[in-house]
Amino acid sequence: MCSAAAAVLSVATTSAPRLSRRVAVIGGGSAGVVTARFLKRAGHDATIFESGSTVGGVWADNPTNDVVYKGLHTNLPTVVMQSPDLDFASSVPSYITKEMLGQYIEAYGREFGLLQLATFGATVTRVAPAASEGAPRWTVEWTVDDVAHSDVFDAVVVATGHYNKPYMPSLPGEENWLAGDAARRITHSLHYDDPDDFRGQSVLVVGGRSSGVDIARMLYGVAEWVYVLEKKCTSATTHAAEAVTHVPLGTRLCRNGRLAAPRGGGGGGGEEEEEVEGPPVTKVVLATGYVYSFPFLDETACGLTFEGERFVTPLYQHLMHAARPFPGGHAARPTLGFVGIPLAVPCPIPFFECQAAFLAEQWAKPDAALHGAEATARRQAWVAAMRDAVGSRDQDLHYTSTSARGPGTTSAWAYMRELLRATHATRPVDEAGDCWLERPSWEARLTTVEAVYADRGARYPKLPWEDDAYRRCEYTVDWASGTWSVDASRC
Ligand SMILES: Cc1cc2nc3c(=O)[nH]c(=O)nc-3n(C[C@H](O)[C@H](O)[C@H](O)COP(=O)(O)OP(=O)(O)OC[C@H]3O[C@@H](n4cnc5c(N)ncnc54)[C@H](O)[C@@H]3O)c2cc1C
Ligand SMILES: NC(=O)c1ccc[n+]([C@@H]2O[C@H](COP(=O)([O-])OP(=O)(O)OC[C@H]3O[C@@H](n4cnc5c(N)ncnc54)[C@H](OP(=O)(O)O)[C@@H]3O)[C@@H](O)[C@H]2O)c1
Repeated sequence: MCSAAAAVLSVATTSAPRLSRRVAVIGGGSAGVVTARFLKRAGHDATIFESGSTVGGVWADNPTNDVVYKGLHTNLPTVVMQSPDLDFASSVPSYITKEMLGQYIEAYGREFGLLQLATFGATVTRVAPAASEGAPRWTVEWTVDDVAHSDVFDAVVVATGHYNKPYMPSLPGEENWLAGDAARRITHSLHYDDPDDFRGQSVLVVGGRSSGVDIARMLYGVAEWVYVLEKKCTSATTHAAEAVTHVPLGTRLCRNGRLAAPRGGGGGGGEEEEEVEGPPVTKVVLATGYVYSFPFLDETACGLTFEGERFVTPLYQHLMHAARPFPGGHAARPTLGFVGIPLAVPCPIPFFECQAAFLAEQWAKPDAALHGAEATARRQAWVAAMRDAVGSRDQDLHYTSTSARGPGTTSAWAYMRELLRATHATRPVDEAGDCWLERPSWEARLTTVEAVYADRGARYPKLPWEDDAYRRCEYTVDWASGTWSVDASRC
């Protein structure tokens, strides 16, 4: 493969000169596929490197990361998940199977001519600053069938997902509990697949977001007893008729298998304890989330911190390298991008579209504007403000909750709007735009998606093990008028 330096390109929508860069996109999941689409639209030359044999990532038929468990149905409705430029088939229900979402991502790749940009079976093994004159560039190394390849790119997007390395906190009393019986096990939701593996067991599920809620519900009625430990619980509460107990942070595993919970709620330490009602715990499932890991990136060489952490820093807008200059190196490395880093994203595909469009426009800027001191300082200031806003809760750095969490932080919806407004500075809104985020209706569209998402949120189980009736709702949306309805007759 030959390499070419960034080329000047002229595009009708703006009189400013634009650069076309050669970009390596690592990962062919939904984030990588979406990114390639927007790089291409902005005039860049994108190549997708995907370890697996198809696009789709965790939703692919033969995923490289088998995190999606047996029988999983999406926890978002199709009208929220889909790109505004490509509807799901009207024949599919609102909450769908893994296979249906995989087929959609493949259809997205076909519709926008992205499959031909992908090299499948290509595992990227190293990405490092290239020794080159002028603007910083990147050496990318990869293997296909054990044969090593290498090339130099102007920019790199990391879109390798982040649900493949579990976050495994140690639990109070864990060692003592494990020592009490050789059959006791602690597993992580990454390896959870089938409730039948827990039939008749007494299981402690730790964590109360999507995985914790799904797993607790699936174990309910199959396991002998389900304990759910999560921060929304303020004091141990047993629902004996349902064989479920809700326990707070600070709950301790005892050698005899029982649980001891801080009396009157936990977290602070040093509280009096009470023994929790219910049979001895025989298995623990940690639904505690994941850590970031990019084995092909050297943290020191790139000036980033991420390995084994629940954050990646410093990243401007959660997606663009914003580290200080490398010793003896170039001014900054904003041509290293990340799409899909945020957590608790309410609508992954449209969200990735906003991130990718923003990145593609940033990279179309001339080198002087992209790498200049002013732009570098602005990016670093943004990172500093975000770090201040989350304080000691590093794990919230990329948590795009649906409402603002405090000064300096934003909801996912505000974040998407901010990215799109910045994108429109160089790709102005136009009624005839052939992509949703370039038409004047983009904001109304997002508002409608947000409203449907809010309805889904209001129907989400209040207690983790409760019925997921919300998944039986069917949404119908008239995008032109922004009106929508929900058929909740089966909920
Ligand atoms: C259990 C679970 C359920 C979820 N449910 C929903 C849901 O209902 N709805 C929803 O919208 N989202 C859901 N999500 C979120 C989901 O992760 C995102 O929707 C989306 O699939 C993330 O896409 P991605 O491209 O970032 O990552 P992935 O889908 O993980 O794709 C990353 C790709 O990168 C490739 N790759 C990794 N390393 C390399 C390398 N070194 N070289 C080359 N290729 C590499 C992998 O093979 C993979 O194909 C769920 C996530 C989990 C874990
Ligand atoms: N059906 C579905 O569609 C489905 C199912 C499962 C997952 N998902 C998706 O998969 C992704 C990952 O979700 P996830 O639920 O696995 O991870 P997650 O969103 O990262 O949630 C992990 C939770 O565990 C908590 N936790 C961490 N350590 C803990 C401890 N020691 N004690 C108690 N709680 C602890 C965390 O709290 P802190 O933040 O305070 O640390 C957090 O609330 C999300 O995108 C989600 O939407 C979807």
